[in-house]
Amino acid sequence: MIKINNLDVILKGKEILKNINLTIDDKKIYVILGPSGCGKSVLLKNIIGLLTPTGGEILIDNINIVDADKKEIDNIRKKCGFLFQHSALFDSLTIEENLEFPLLQHKNYSKDEIKDRVNEKLKMVGLHDVNNKKPSELSGGMQKRAALARSIILEPEYIFYDEPTTGLDPIMSRIIDDLIVELNYKLGVTSIVVTHDMKTASKISDNMALLYNGKKIIEGKKSDLMRADNPYLNQFVEGLREGPMVL
Ligand SMILES: Nc1ncnc2c1ncn2[C@@H]1O[C@H](COP(=O)(O)OP(=O)(O)O)[C@@H](O)[C@H]1O
Ligand SMILES: [Mg+2]
Repeated sequence: MIKINNLDVILKGKEILKNINLTIDDKKIYVILGPSGCGKSVLLKNIIGLLTPTGGEILIDNINIVDADKKEIDNIRKKCGFLFQHSALFDSLTIEENLEFPLLQHKNYSKDEIKDRVNEKLKMVGLHDVNNKKPSELSGGMQKRAALARSIILEPEYIFYDEPTTGLDPIMSRIIDDLIVELNYKLGVTSIVVTHDMKTASKISDNMALLYNGKKIIEGKKSDLMRADNPYLNQFVEGLREGPMVL
């Protein structure tokens, strides 16, 4: 389980996150929603240890990664897969080589085992006949899938997504949404998805939180939030210019 207690983040003298508390249930999809600049990516970077908070705790499987030692953090990292906004595949490597890379670094598999793993994961994200292609030879949606295949290659327990549908057309966005849900179920993982895409949030989330200006405005089960009478959420869901959020 992931639990965040009283998280404060100050960057370059500016308060970016203010007293954030979140509980992310195992095996569910938790969506962190909010307008651009509200602090979603900064929150994610703190959870995965790329930034260190100013105050508070981030517990992953009961280890507070804020003050854990390197070995503990390495162990936690092994349980985590990441899909960043820009797919971050290595341009000069083929798709197959991109997927093999984490396996060669972390596992002692035979050549055949590596090939099997790679093909299994590519199949899982619906990619065929791309093994020997370079990322630039694939469409944006296919690159996203290949990056997703790579993020699950070490069979993580947690998958973190930062804006998984940004820059994709609406149809490809829904395909990626479906894939996130399918993988969550098939792999039995916990998914944390940061997005400003309301369609994604309403489609895939079990639970969600709305952030604005570094603060958690509201949080809950999707079914409860959709009925909630909250002016911030209402403004965000309806895409209204008028409302409590000034952007
Ligand atoms: N490394 C950094 N140093 C200083 N300010 C940052 C840094 N990263 C992000 N910020 C600021 O933090 C705020 C939240 O950014 P971010 O989390 O990227 O927003 P978003 O919700 O769009 O992902 C923004 O005002 C951004 O300028
Ligand atoms: Mg962001």
